[in-house]
Amino acid sequence: MTKIKTICCIGAGYVGGPTMAVIAQKCPDINVSVVDLNEARIKAWNDDDLSKLPVFEPGLDKIVEEARGRNLFFSTDVDKAIDQADMIFISVNTPTKTYGKGKGMAADLKYIELCARQIAKVAKEDKIVVEKSTLPVRTASAIKNILDHTGNGVKFQILSNPEFLAEGTAVQDLLKPDRVLIGGDSSEEGKNAIQALKGIYANWVPTEKILTTNVWSSELSKLTANAFLAQRVSSINAMSVICEKTGADVSEVAKAIGLDSRIGSKFLKSSVGFGGSCFQKDILNLVYIAKSYGLNEVADYWKQVVVMNNYQKNRFSNNIVSTLYNTVSGKKITFFGWAFKKDTNDTRESAAIQVADNLLNEQANIEVYDPKVVEESIYADLDYLNTRTEEENRSLLTVKTDPYEAARDSHAIAVLTEWDEFKTYDWQKIYNHMLKPAFVFDGRDVLDINEMEKIGFVCYSIGKGSSK
Ligand code: UDX
Ligand code: UDX
Repeated sequence: MTKIKTICCIGAGYVGGPTMAVIAQKCPDINVSVVDLNEARIKAWNDDDLSKLPVFEPGLDKIVEEARGRNLFFSTDVDKAIDQADMIFISVNTPTKTYGKGKGMAADLKYIELCARQIAKVAKEDKIVVEKSTLPVRTASAIKNILDHTGNGVKFQILSNPEFLAEGTAVQDLLKPDRVLIGGDSSEEGKNAIQALKGIYANWVPTEKILTTNVWSSELSKLTANAFLAQRVSSINAMSVICEKTGADVSEVAKAIGLDSRIGSKFLKSSVGFGGSCFQKDILNLVYIAKSYGLNEVADYWKQVVVMNNYQKNRFSNNIVSTLYNTVSGKKITFFGWAFKKDTNDTRESAAIQVADNLLNEQANIEVYDPKVVEESIYADLDYLNTRTEEENRSLLTVKTDPYEAARDSHAIAVLTEWDEFKTYDWQKIYNHMLKPAFVFDGRDVLDINEMEKIGFVCYSIGKGSSK
């Protein structure tokens, strides 16, 4: 079996960074280089001040502190890292295509292809290439083609090793994964490559949790897992609307069905809508794959999960407008939370973006407070939509670093992320500084409605409805 001594990971993002940090911590005899084209990102990974790491994940700073400089390195020298590595992880982003064929649905694989070409150009010895990014099924064969036809005659083995970590719990998910999935070729060389990667994880993951499959099953399993999870959120969100109409309470319904062991209690929290870099992208990708095989019913079935999610986001903002007497023009609305969920500074596809866009279209003024998201990210998210000019976004929306300041003279508070600290605020103080009637729209079920009503707030909570 090939014993891996040097690893390179291309892409120092939310997946590549934490995954490599944990591998380096658990395998002190393996040299791990994480490379990225983005110089600012690499600089931040190398910052002495660990609070400046580009990815915020509870517990990550400690691991980076322990391994960095010992056997964990961050650099922009991609060629050197490829040249030295026995095993190369590809962890670059695969966003939904914004142009051409498959626009709005298919995954854009241009970065993956660039990586493959660069590996082919640089490699002088046999290497194992591991797909970490979520990819459409059969991407591995494209990578293999590029490597085999443009390389220097060296041999490549391609493995699929999808990442199942969720942001905000990435370190725990990596340390104690439910399973590790490795897909590879059934040839002798393929089996050897699988064993080599298995040997790395076996340093801390019990071997019965390391599952090996063929490459296509592994690629498709990642899309399937995310589609099933997103479907649960859209299913409970579909019920949230019915709850509000009928007087049922969605948390009670979720609890009642979650106790059924066949269903289980996780991923049943109704919300203003799921976000994150994976769910929407992966479902659209699945829809595109189904369509390309002419499976229109299958495509429509999964597409509806995304349709439901958009409905939930728009429903939330529409409700704010109608409750505030059908106009929010010139009114100040405070957002508590911008990240797509708590304990992360990632904002990709966050429900807050769509809700803000809708309210800004109604000429509302928005003040945002999020404990971990920086101002630049918030403006970048809005500018990316191209609905308004950059100047308009900056004049209509401001970012505050103090929640009490953000709520001052505001008509309504909208809770978009379930940060724990929101529960600990002095809500009486917030109420006192707001315009009356003071409204709160809880899109994440973090606040105790009864307590809020006692203070004087007019409340709405997803799946529970409004107070009288
Ligand atoms: C990853 C996966 O790639 C994605 O497919 C999966 O579904 C979610 O996780 P993530 O780590 O979250 O993406 O992405 P991101 O934080 O954007 O990191 C990707 C990094 O790759 C960026 O830092 C980017 O600069 C870098 N990159 C991209 C390169 O170094 N080279 C490239 O050619 C392209
Ligand atoms: C997801 C998958 O869970 C992970 O396995 C995969 O590798 C990457 O994609 P992530 O996007 O980090 O991880 O977050 P996740 O915890 O799955 O949440 C996704 C979205 O769904 C968030 O916006 C979250 O707030 C929302 N959600 C989740 C709900 O609204 N209700 C729930 O009950 C659970």
